[in-house]
Formats: sequence, C-alpha cells, structure tokens
Amino acid sequence: MFFSKKIEPIALDIGSTFIKLVQLKGSNRNYQLMKFGMIPLPPEVIVEGAVMDAGRVVDAIKELLAAHKVATKEVVISVSGSSVIIKRVSVADMTDEELAESIKWEAEQYIPFSIDDVNVDFQKLGAGATEGQADVLLVAVKKDKINDYVNLVKEAGLDPVVMDVDAFALANMYELNYDIEAGTTALLNIGASVMNINILKDGMSIFTRDITVGGNRYTEGLQRDFGLTNEDAEKVKRGESVEGADKDQISAVMSSVTEDIVAETQRSFEFFRSTTGSEQVSRVFVSGGCALIGHFTSILSERLEIPVEVANPFKNVKIDPKKFDAAIIEESAPLCAVAVGLAIRRPGDR
Ligand SMILES: Nc1ncnc2c1ncn2[C@@H]1O[C@H](COP(=O)(O)OP(=O)(O)OP(=O)(O)O)[C@@H](O)[C@H]1O
Ligand SMILES: [Mg+2]
Repeated sequence: MFFSKKIEPIALDIGSTFIKLVQLKGSNRNYQLMKFGMIPLPPEVIVEGAVMDAGRVVDAIKELLAAHKVATKEVVISVSGSSVIIKRVSVADMTDEELAESIKWEAEQYIPFSIDDVNVDFQKLGAGATEGQADVLLVAVKKDKINDYVNLVKEAGLDPVVMDVDAFALANMYELNYDIEAGTTALLNIGASVMNINILKDGMSIFTRDITVGGNRYTEGLQRDFGLTNEDAEKVKRGESVEGADKDQISAVMSSVTEDIVAETQRSFEFFRSTTGSEQVSRVFVSGGCALIGHFTSILSERLEIPVEVANPFKNVKIDPKKFDAAIIEESAPLCAVAVGLAIRRPGDR
C-alpha cells in the first residue's frame, strides 16, 4: 500500500531588502504556522529585482534555513516586476488541454518579448463576453528571471516545487484571511522597489500590474536631501533620529514621496478603470514595507477617498505562543503578505 506523502513546502519570498521564510500546515483556511523568519539583504545584492550577487543571496538563504532549523527541501518561490506580464485575454473556448497547447501562440500577440524567451501559463476566468469565447488570465514570465531565482534556491540545497507570481500570492493571502466582499478590492504590496497591484472583483483577480515604485524612493530622497548614508536613511524612515537631519524637514521629504507613490497608485487605478470598464475601487489593503510608514495609509485613504487597511497575513493563521514571539510576528506581518500567500501553494495544486 502506498501512502502519498503530504508535503508542506517552505515559502521563500526573496525580496531586495528582506528574504522572508514562512511554512504553513493545514488546508482550507485552517492553517498553523510552522516556520517564520526574515533575513535582511544589503542594498547592492538584488537591485530592482535583478540578482547582482547570487553568492550572497544563497548564503543568506542558507543562514535563514539554519537559524530556523528548516529540514524541508521543497520550496515555493515567486517573481515579480517587469519580467512578468499578466493580461486578461479573450480566446476561443476550448478544453484546458487544448488551451495548454495553443496558449503559447495566443500569447505571442500580447507580450513584448520573444515567445521563446518566456514561460507561459494561464488560468481560466469563465465565459467571455461573446459566445464561444472564454476569458483567460495569461501569465508570461521571462525564462532568464525564472532561472535566476530557481538557481538561487537550488544552490542553497532546496528543491523548487512551485513558481508563483507576487500578485497572485497576494490574492491567496487575502483569500486565506479575509471574507470576500461585494465590490472591487485592490491589494497593494509595496516593497522596496516594486509595487504589486492585484484588483479583485467578487474575489476574482481582474487586473494585476507591477510598477517600479517603493520604499527605496524614501531612502533615496533622504540620502539626497540630507547627505545621509543608506543605513542612516533607513533608520530615519523607521522613525529613528540621526544627526544632521531636522524632524520637520524629514517629515516634508517623507510626505512628498508618499504623495508621489499615491499619485502613481491613482494612475494605475484610472488605467484599470479605463481598460476594464469596471467601477471604482471600493477599498484597499496595503502590505509590504511601505505599509509601515506612519502616515502612508491615512494619506492614501484621504486621496482615494476610500477605506485603506493594512493587511494582516496572519489574521487567520494559528500561531503557537510557545513556539513564536507574537510581538515580532505582529511587527513584521505586513512584510510577509507574499510569503504567506506562497506558503499555501502545494505542488500540482492548480
Ligand atoms: N518599519 C518600517 N518603516 C518604514 N519602512 C520600512 C519599515 N520596515 C521596512 N521598511 C521598508 O520597506 C521596504 C521593504 O519592504 P518589503 O520587505 O516588502 O520589500 P522587499 O520585498 O524586500 O522588496 P522588493 O519586493 O521591492 O524587492 C524597504 O524599503 C524598507 O526600508
Ligand atoms: Mg517584495
């Protein structure tokens, strides 16, 4: 008799400022935290999602695994940014098998890269606007980007079993923790260099987009205006005081960067409305490091005139207080939205 081994892979969100580790056990919105950890990366190691120093990323992954005594080899990872193209397209209705065969040729007209340079995947969304058509979410990711990230985890001794996309991980995190509400919900994950946007209608992804804006904008602004080192600018951003920078001036720089990021968000929402003909976004969940910037959610909410909430990816996750320090998890929870979304993926689950 055979028992199929149920694997709970670890999830690694390899960001440019932090690598996050999450492992969850369970199913169907009933999960328990098994592993949790984060390790910082120096700013020059991954730049705008491009791996500049693979050796140091591999070392950091190994250190993170050792620190948390991870024995699991199977890992789920993700990619994001300009190497990822996600588009809702209308195709002739066919079976999943037929679609798997033809999607590559369908994709050719929608992506700005050579079709031989990308891996193409799809997800059926339902019947299309006209009869005999189906709406499909087309996902194309550059092969060299996938290879870079796969090689990182392989070199760290891991076995990559699922490759996901940040924006989809975000939707899975949301589904795990929040009840689907009527209307249009935008999930924003604002990290250091990339903002992932996933807009859901009745719980389904209808628009996703990655834009190159994030927490680095604050750090760069502070470094430029006050001549600070990267390290000091990071401290100032977190509300610590350093010599040579006046509080009011800091606050002015921080606010002006926030206004820029908010304006970019508004532009993306307008683009969403004009391309999908949908109604206005009715509420927003923010995650990623920028969600921790004091005034961020309130300014975003004021400008958009809709409720904005910081997402808690562990809201529905059981956490054993004997194994984990609740305060540490609470503090860094918004940074772990993608990692939690990845941690509920299983090999062959879609
Ligand atoms: N407490 C805090 N206050 C303000 N900013 C913070 C705080 N903690 C982290 N950040 C900022 O958030 C960003 C890191 O967030 P996150 O971990 O989501 O990004 P990342 O995944 O590493 O980056 P990316 O996905 O863009 O490569 C950095 O710019 C960091 O300075
Ligand atoms: Mg990130």
